[in-house]
Amino acid sequence: MAEMDEPRQDDGAGKNVTRRRFILGVIAGGAVVSAASYRFLAPTRHYSSGVGERLIRLNVNGKARRVEVMKQETLSHTLRYKLGLTGTKVACDRAECGSCTVLLDGIPHYSCSVLTNTVRNKQVTTIEGLASPDGKLHPVQQAVVDHQGFQCAYCMPGFVMSAVGFLKQNPNPTRAQMAHGISGNLCRCQDYAKILDSMMHGAEYMRKGVPAAAERRA
Ligand code: FES
Ligand code: FES
Repeated sequence: MAEMDEPRQDDGAGKNVTRRRFILGVIAGGAVVSAASYRFLAPTRHYSSGVGERLIRLNVNGKARRVEVMKQETLSHTLRYKLGLTGTKVACDRAECGSCTVLLDGIPHYSCSVLTNTVRNKQVTTIEGLASPDGKLHPVQQAVVDHQGFQCAYCMPGFVMSAVGFLKQNPNPTRAQMAHGISGNLCRCQDYAKILDSMMHGAEYMRKGVPAAAERRA
């Protein structure tokens, strides 16, 4: 479908963007609201900033990051409000929906239910760390862009991280196996059939390589 014919939606900043560009923005972990704004908006219910914080070193998306954290601070909080990695979403904040999924040493985890100080010796990968340094999307991200398998896309980063972790273990899944592999993620828009389509295309892109742009769904 030509871009100019695509449905348009508000990006949250008052601009009309095409659906494909909107999805591309979310899938690459691009935040509509700046990290500085999120820091300002960080919830204070569980954490009193500055009191009892300890400086630790994390490895996030292949880079060493030094950050001050509370003993009881969750990884999702640290990623979003201390490191500005707002591609990781938080919906339920109690290990039920999967929207906060990140990879720890390649294995999907709910970051809302992991304490930051327990991952000091692990490789943390977020949605922002999937693309190549040159900006080339991960095959699963590219499949989502090509097949537009989400509606509001809030749950998308979590689904993508779960699928990427699952595909490391099972690169050639059946549709039922893929459904099982990402069953820890919920989509409030209930767009599951299209989400599965995208993930299955992502699996194929990983096995066979991402087709040239002209061959992909235009
Ligand atoms: S926000 Fe972590 S599982 Fe829902
Ligand atoms: S697409 Fe809206 S929550 Fe999943």
